[in-house]
Amino acid sequence: MELRLPAARDPLRGRVAVPGDKSLAHRAALFAALADGESGVGNYPDSGVTRAMRNALTSLGVPSVLEDGVLRISGRGRLQSDVVVYCGNSGTTFRLLAGALAATGTAATLDGSDGLRRRPMERIAEPLRLMGVDVSTTAGHAPLVFRPAPLHGIDYTLPVASAQVLSCLQLAALGADGPSTFHVPGPVRDHTTRMLLAMGARIEEDGLTTRVYPLKSLETLKPLKGVLPGDISSAAFLLVAAAIVPGSRITITNVGLNPTRTGILDILSEMGASVSISNAHDAFGEPAGDVTLAAAPLHGVAIGGDMVVRSIDEFPAIAVAAAFAEGITTVRDAEELRYKESDRIAAIVAQLRALGADVTEVTDGFSIRGGTVRGGTAQANGDHRLAMSMALCGLRAPSPVVVGGAEILDESFPEFAAKLAALRCGEGADLVK
Ligand code: S3P
Repeated sequence: MELRLPAARDPLRGRVAVPGDKSLAHRAALFAALADGESGVGNYPDSGVTRAMRNALTSLGVPSVLEDGVLRISGRGRLQSDVVVYCGNSGTTFRLLAGALAATGTAATLDGSDGLRRRPMERIAEPLRLMGVDVSTTAGHAPLVFRPAPLHGIDYTLPVASAQVLSCLQLAALGADGPSTFHVPGPVRDHTTRMLLAMGARIEEDGLTTRVYPLKSLETLKPLKGVLPGDISSAAFLLVAAAIVPGSRITITNVGLNPTRTGILDILSEMGASVSISNAHDAFGEPAGDVTLAAAPLHGVAIGGDMVVRSIDEFPAIAVAAAFAEGITTVRDAEELRYKESDRIAAIVAQLRALGADVTEVTDGFSIRGGTVRGGTAQANGDHRLAMSMALCGLRAPSPVVVGGAEILDESFPEFAAKLAALRCGEGADLVK
């Protein structure tokens, strides 16, 4: 499928909600599958990656039903053994399930798409082995084969600031014979800690150190009830759209605002957009609120340090804001982007260049000189976020922008084009070619 957004003739206006947060959705389904009793989770997103987790749990003997946006799932504190579990394109599904297989002593093989097989898995296998887990990789990649083994607590320093790795280890630690302590090199999203605490687990956090106490049995976890806040990583595309179209003013309602995820809001305001929060509330144990963005002339910024992890999934969208800003934006300390759904540094650089932009690649990031996008054809590279970001360039580029392989966006935000159309006063019925 090719995607072409018509150039914006008018500012974006209005209020929309985005589907529930995928990071929370993955965790809610998995933790509910481990708990005892029926969980009900509202505003549950239905996309490729969330179906990957639900399908994986079905193969592990825990089916779920998604009806009217509510996920219902009944856990029994254990998973079915001797199965091959396919995780599709979802790295979060894969790495979190690895921790759950370890904690429950489940014999299973974890596998995924060709794209997922290219992503690094030794980063979870090595510390799991230190805990006693019997796991073998395929030259450091999927498939991973798990066999039951007794687990013991460890003290481990993660070499990368990764929430997926930390969450995997936290889950495994629930099934160990003593407490485990994990140190991260920088702050990472803390959804796992918040949700497991709400379900009755004992976890202590002290700065960059997390201590997890084992559970007598996973069945002691309480089921989950609640409604997910909207996904800030989906909202990001709409916010960038409004930021690059002069005169725009939009509100995205009920967005998850966990401070480990809000880097995109800080970066857009530093670039010059006016960003404000109203209706602050709590949703599923997480801060949430309505985000309003009013466009203003954007200028280039320097991004690095802890800000990278706080906006780790948003760099394709940030690159688009930078491409329409005045001056140069630099991104550094972001080598982790090379291990996402694509090598996002190489992909952002190559695809923006294909649209005429002046972009420079370095090992741990890139630089973009704003105002240089002309238009043309970009490729999604099997990366949902790249598909949506490159399409956004079409709103402002002097010539049309066509994105090839855009069907991949169904992996995370199938409603992308419709939500954008809703902010364009009906314009854009021809969004998808
Ligand atoms: C996620 C963590 C991040 C992020 C991914 C979702 C999570 O990955 O890129 O999309 O839900 O824990 P890393 O923790 O590996 O950086």
